[in-house]
Amino acid sequence: MRKYSQAVKIKYLLPLIFLSIITFPVLSNSLQVADTTKVQLKDTAKTQKKDTTKIQVKDTSKIQVKDSTKIKVKDTTNLQAKDSVKHQLPDSIIYKRTTFSAEELIRGKRLFYGLVYLEDKSINCVACHNTNVSDTLNWNPDALEISKKYLDKNARDLSKVLLKPVGPKMKLVHKGFQLSAEDIVLIKAYMDKFVYIGLKQNKPVITYLLLLIIASLLFIVSTVDLIIKRLFKNQRINWAILTITGIFITWILVVNAIAFGRSKGYAPAQPIKFSHAVHAGQNKTDCNYCHYTARISKTAGIPPGSVCLNCHFLVRNGTRSGATEIAKVLKALDDKKAVQWVRIYRLPDFVFFSHEQHVSAGGITCDACHGNVKEMDRLYQVTDLSMGWCINCHKTRKVNLSNGYYKTYYSGYYDSLKAGKIDSVMVTGVGGRDCGKCHY
Ligand code: HEC
Ligand code: HEC
Ligand code: HEC
Ligand code: HEC
Ligand code: HEC
Ligand code: HEC
Repeated sequence: MRKYSQAVKIKYLLPLIFLSIITFPVLSNSLQVADTTKVQLKDTAKTQKKDTTKIQVKDTSKIQVKDSTKIKVKDTTNLQAKDSVKHQLPDSIIYKRTTFSAEELIRGKRLFYGLVYLEDKSINCVACHNTNVSDTLNWNPDALEISKKYLDKNARDLSKVLLKPVGPKMKLVHKGFQLSAEDIVLIKAYMDKFVYIGLKQNKPVITYLLLLIIASLLFIVSTVDLIIKRLFKNQRINWAILTITGIFITWILVVNAIAFGRSKGYAPAQPIKFSHAVHAGQNKTDCNYCHYTARISKTAGIPPGSVCLNCHFLVRNGTRSGATEIAKVLKALDDKKAVQWVRIYRLPDFVFFSHEQHVSAGGITCDACHGNVKEMDRLYQVTDLSMGWCINCHKTRKVNLSNGYYKTYYSGYYDSLKAGKIDSVMVTGVGGRDCGKCHY
């Protein structure tokens, strides 16, 4: 009797444990996503908007007549910033402030997130200056970047780009900002922290690893149960669990083993927001202008800064990024430092691949292997660079037998082709499948 009741307990406990394991990451994640920013956005934006307008529209006498507690409870920060501090200290002293109370730092954050209404308007810095890592190209500098740039400068420098912006793009995006010296000091105090904490990473919701662990646990429990024969009277339940989790585990392991070390879709952020869509697409610059060794050597190569300078000696402002990104090109040249581009397409060391052979001899265009680069702002890896990918193409592409090399070394093929005995030779026919051609 006791044995039975224990088994029943476990029977109900196990699903509960699994349920909590599954839901925990989802819950914690949704909590994180919804964190401070959203909550704050809803609350403060509403209340503050109401507050300030009310206070401003209605003349002071009225407010005083109405019960005083109400006014006190509502929005003290706004009143303080407006009245007491602003009118007492000259800007030059305010800009030199270095210590801040916790509340002031919170106000700095809320100013940055556009949650404080000034003259019934708010400026949402975060709408342009990301505080999260972005998967796609965001033309505006992110919060980390601007905070690094301004860490050693003072609030007066910041006030210049906010209140008296220069440069075509900056004039456009920082237009009509009405911020007091006090607000700017607080925004700067808030921004400075990004240098130390960095940007927020985007977390995947549920990882395959977690699913794999859960499936493995279920698999083990079912196996044990099958051997000891306890929890489920009907053994078919165990067999069902074993089959489903077994298939799932095998599938995950096989898929991951094949993809191991490969990175289709890889799209790293680059040190300069260089866009192929802008250069190769809109401005129609030929791929070979920058990747000028593609036709004549093994590697296509990444252009050195001097190639950029050919145009950017004159073009100092971009429509999308303003002066910031192009300034990095010029700075790298001034510092005599090569730009640290992140490599995207890379074969393992034991594979030989030559661009010249494919582009010049084979007459293959770049897009056959690199996709529609002309439309990519942030470039990504289109193919998986697997051995199967190389060989599949070699099986289906004809070689041009009329070039001097093939005429000499594959004269047999050339003669048969001329005599009409065969109509084409695939790359595999001239060694495109020989291990030694691709592997040293
Ligand atoms: C104005 C110069 C320029 C032009 C024109 C240009 N590229 Fe690029 N390309 C670059 C730079 C700089 C990088 C490195 C930054 C990056 O990956 O976005 C690069 C990177 C690449 C990469 C990735 C290299 C790696 O890291 O594995 C490929 C592929 C590529 N370009 C293909 C093309 C193709 C195809 C065209 C023509 C449609 C083209 N490029 C036109 C400058 C250029
Ligand atoms: C053949 C001329 C040419 C070369 C070479 C060239 N660029 Fe550009 N680039 C332009 C032009 C023109 C623009 C302006 C596009 C616009 O604003 O519409 C531009 C814009 C940019 C922008 C800003 C884009 C925007 O809209 O904000 C960046 C960043 C940039 N280039 C980086 C580079 C880098 C890095 C290189 C070298 C690898 C390079 N460029 C080489 C012509 C060139
Ligand atoms: C509409 C989008 C937008 C908004 C809103 C915006 N910015 Fe910017 N900001 C930009 C762009 C774009 C640049 C780069 C312009 C350039 O380099 O020409 C920039 C540049 C900056 C820079 C760097 C200036 C430099 O010297 O390179 C700082 C600092 C900055 N912004 C702070 C702020 C703050 C603080 C706010 C909020 C009060 C804000 N921005 C609101 C788009 C925006
Ligand atoms: C037959 C497929 C194929 C074609 C066609 C091709 N590439 Fe590549 N490309 C590759 C592979 C594979 C790599 C990785 C090479 C490695 O890691 O050794 C690569 C790498 C690159 C790189 C990175 C740097 C380097 O030199 O390895 C650039 C840039 C590049 N290709 C540009 C181009 C351009 C521009 C063209 C057209 C003129 C082109 N590719 C045509 C397959 C191709
Ligand atoms: C889009 C089609 C295509 C893809 C993808 C491709 N190749 Fe090729 N490859 C060709 C063609 C066409 C030739 C014949 C070129 C010629 O006429 O010499 C060739 C020739 C070769 C040769 C010379 C073979 C010989 O007989 O001398 C080697 C080596 C080679 N490819 C390696 C690779 C590797 C490694 C990859 C994968 C990373 C790859 N190729 C992907 C089309 C392709
Ligand atoms: C057309 C070029 C090409 C030919 C021909 C070729 N390989 Fe490969 N091989 C590759 C590439 C590319 C990779 C790298 C695949 C990757 O990174 O996943 C590779 C990887 C491998 C690997 C490592 C396992 C793996 O998938 O990562 C082995 C082993 C291998 N090749 C053996 C061979 C043998 C044996 C032959 C002859 C029958 C051969 N290859 C012919 C291009 C080729």
